[in-house]
Amino acid sequence: MAALRPLIAGNWKMYGRRADLAEIDGLWKRVGASARALDVLICPPAPYVAAAAEAAKGGEVQIGAQDCCAVAEDAARTGDVNAAMLADAGARYLIVGHSERRSLHGESDGLVRRKAEAAFAAGLIPIICVGETQAERNAGKLAEIVSRQVRESTPAEGGPFVIAYEPVWAIGGSTTPTMAEIAEVHALIRETLSGNFGARANETRILYGGSVNPKNAGEIFAVGGVDGALVGRASLKAADFAAIILAHPAAR
Ligand code: PGA
Repeated sequence: MAALRPLIAGNWKMYGRRADLAEIDGLWKRVGASARALDVLICPPAPYVAAAAEAAKGGEVQIGAQDCCAVAEDAARTGDVNAAMLADAGARYLIVGHSERRSLHGESDGLVRRKAEAAFAAGLIPIICVGETQAERNAGKLAEIVSRQVRESTPAEGGPFVIAYEPVWAIGGSTTPTMAEIAEVHALIRETLSGNFGARANETRILYGGSVNPKNAGEIFAVGGVDGALVGRASLKAADFAAIILAHPAAR
């Protein structure tokens, strides 16, 4: 399988203010030309997507969003934001099915799939998150859970999407799976995608996410089948996120 263009995505979650958008320019100043062989992405909170897209002009950092309403059309839905609005504001990618949405908002695989389809309809590339909890892993259900999420959260048809493997227990802490465990789950995801999409599955980038930081990024990027990372906490400051990006072999 030919190497895919790596994607290193920052998920700001519900952090940051307008003043923090200066980190985007700071990031490009730090990585600049070294990052041209990679896709670099920042997903700020929805109210800042348009200003982030403005701040990214002049560099090649792309902007994404973190969630959308599953209803693609404009509708009477107070408080909701659809994918077309996020695209109009300057987003190019859209995270869907993050474990915080699955657990705190009860999002099912079916809902995540509809959100991914809404992203496609708006011309966005969905980053579909999957991953097991500690309890599921302990019960020996990792393969069952992750392959089900991959099968049922991905759109049957449509353009390119990205999968992010994020073991729930590794998010927001300092523990990550071993490199062998990451390789194993990424291979399982690739196999599940092949079962669903045939040869097209080889075009899907599979990111690792969960406690990626400047210290462990190089080791994670060297794992076979890892096409980049989805980074939470360490993406908030340009210095840390740049160090992660520059740890990728494609950035040298
Ligand atoms: P973390 O978050 O890098 O802070 O662990 C990753 C994520 O939840 O996307």
